[in-house]
Amino acid sequence: MKVVKKITEVREEIRKARCKGKSIGLVPTMGFLHSGHLSLVRESVSGCTFTVVSIFVNPTQFGKSEDYGTYPRDIQRDLMMLKKERVDLVFTPSVEEMYRQDAETYVIVDKLSRVLEGRFRPSHFRGVCTIVCKLFNIVMPDRAYFGWKDAQQLVVIKKMVEDLNIPVEVVGCPTVREKDGLAASSRNVYIKDKDKEKALSLYKGLKKIEETFLKKKLKDSGALIRIGKKVIEKYPDVKLQYLKIVSMDNLAPIKRIEGKVLVLGAIKLSSVRLIDNVILTCR
Ligand code: PAJ
Repeated sequence: MKVVKKITEVREEIRKARCKGKSIGLVPTMGFLHSGHLSLVRESVSGCTFTVVSIFVNPTQFGKSEDYGTYPRDIQRDLMMLKKERVDLVFTPSVEEMYRQDAETYVIVDKLSRVLEGRFRPSHFRGVCTIVCKLFNIVMPDRAYFGWKDAQQLVVIKKMVEDLNIPVEVVGCPTVREKDGLAASSRNVYIKDKDKEKALSLYKGLKKIEETFLKKKLKDSGALIRIGKKVIEKYPDVKLQYLKIVSMDNLAPIKRIEGKVLVLGAIKLSSVRLIDNVILTCR
């Protein structure tokens, strides 16, 4: 496994891999890897013959009052985990390598970035799309792997790829959860032990919605959301930011469930913000 910090080095390694006829998979991450990240890496390693993982805590996707400075980092541990997965190349650029000081170009997926997460994190998806587009241009992968855990991010990136004719196949991978159901996340280290139960409130609300939908065949979104909210509201100190049922393709609100839909939400627990979602399928 090679580890490089420079864009020119990535390009050289990709050139060599292409000469050998390899298919390239890219897994973009911000590091502090966990089982969710590893599931994407495994998909790439099994679906492509050359896997690149990027580790870069991207400053442009953090708001001014967000946790860029304190975002957890442990590059040595990350590299050990990736070596075990038989990753071919790890790209760990510096901020200066990724962003020239005079950079002034951004990628904006307009409407999809303003709803849901976008209402609470106004420039977040601009930062995500810009860095992901740059990584696509640097690595030029055949496939790129993203988790459904960050459902809106996945939908926004798919839209960017479609709108800008970027020749990459975006592969969505299922959410990996801890034993208790909490979605694996680098930010879970922020959750204090005494708050673990409260952190599960969103997942419990989502599961209640799923269960009601499956067992009672309830398809009315408004009614399902009310049921989910009731579960979450029982937990003290948990602030629900949103809980919505939307289309998996374009995040448009859904009144009555048909086909596949996303139920997604965000909570705040003191200064920790958690997002999660489930997918409902109406057969
Ligand atoms: P990060 O939060 O490190 O996540 C990297 C990838 O892992 C994303 O595609 C995310 O959806 C996926 N992932 C995270 N937790 C997961 C889980 N529990 N199950 C399955 N997949 C999971 O998302 C980012 O970084 C950044 O925004 C990035 C795309 C790298 C751009 O900076």
